[in-house]
Amino acid sequence: MDGSKRRGQPIRGLEGVVAAETSLSFVDADNGRLYYRGYDIDELAGRVCFEEAVHLLWMGSLPSRGCLEELRSELIADMRLPQQVYEMIRLAPPSADPMVVLRTAISALDLFDPDTGRNTEAANLRKGKRLLAQVATIVASLHQLRSGGAVRSADRSLDFAGNVLYMFLGREPEEFERSVFDTLLVLHADHGLAASTFAARVTVSTLAGMHSAICAGLANLNGPLHGGANRKVIEMLEEIGGPERVEAYIDGMLARGQRIMGFGHRIYKTQDPRSRYLRRFAEELPRREGREDLLAVSSRIESLVYERKGIYPNVDFYSATV
Ligand code: COA
Repeated sequence: MDGSKRRGQPIRGLEGVVAAETSLSFVDADNGRLYYRGYDIDELAGRVCFEEAVHLLWMGSLPSRGCLEELRSELIADMRLPQQVYEMIRLAPPSADPMVVLRTAISALDLFDPDTGRNTEAANLRKGKRLLAQVATIVASLHQLRSGGAVRSADRSLDFAGNVLYMFLGREPEEFERSVFDTLLVLHADHGLAASTFAARVTVSTLAGMHSAICAGLANLNGPLHGGANRKVIEMLEEIGGPERVEAYIDGMLARGQRIMGFGHRIYKTQDPRSRYLRRFAEELPRREGREDLLAVSSRIESLVYERKGIYPNVDFYSATV
């Protein structure tokens, strides 16, 4: 910590405090850039698949064709859930917050994981692969159970993103849907020391184990000031209803001292580099779904909030629409 800051004005949050060192990703807040292992996110988004980004983050390099195939097939094989965990998801009250069901299911996975209690590097890698794959299955199964569809098992002919959508939608995704989702996964794969990552790292630092850490991270991520913001954004867009109602709505919120969800960022004071991609998808997807209203309302909110507060949308604003 910078000593002059300690003696001078109070420090905001963790500003200037080195809480962890990481070579995984670097957020260049001043220039609005994000790097994974030294690669600018613009070199990766839409150019590598999610499995390649995972290999880059975990192993430090992009995979060869053979390593990519191997990782993909391991992840797809790991998408199976223990029957007891599936039953737990099925028995969750229909009104339960999906993020709470996910957190509870991950906690339950720890009961059945063959490496539970083992914290060696090899065991952690196996647990990491299983968790990554199983989270996708939990989310997709919960969605199918709630919408009355059939819960599907992963299909070996599809890649990771394709499988998540296949299980989630209950049908094979179109190539456009698959590639948008793949890019979204790449864009969300890592982000320096976000609040949820911090919570997870504090937890593993006690050797509590990976499932506990992911539960801590998820609990944190679900807060509306963090990842929970995008759910609030979609509620706001639906509530506003049309672009002509944006001004009164936003001015009313600001007058009441309320925060506009999906705006502002703890460290980026320029545009979040990920939000450019999300904005592009948010222009295209609603058109295909006949929901141009969402885009019209979002664009009006974006310009008005910038006018009133000088702040930009963050990753959660357009991801809500997407
Ligand atoms: N709506 C309205 N005003 C906002 C705002 C928002 N979303 N985000 C920041 N501000 C304002 C604050 O009121 C404050 O104004 P003031 O100086 O007049 O008091 C100023 O901008 C600085 O805000 P501060 O809370 O100190 O910024 P921060 O960097 O600590 O907070 C967030 C970052 C993310 C917590 C904050 O921007 C926020 O609550 N955003 C909404 C939730 C959200 O979208 N979260 C997802 C983040 S990826």
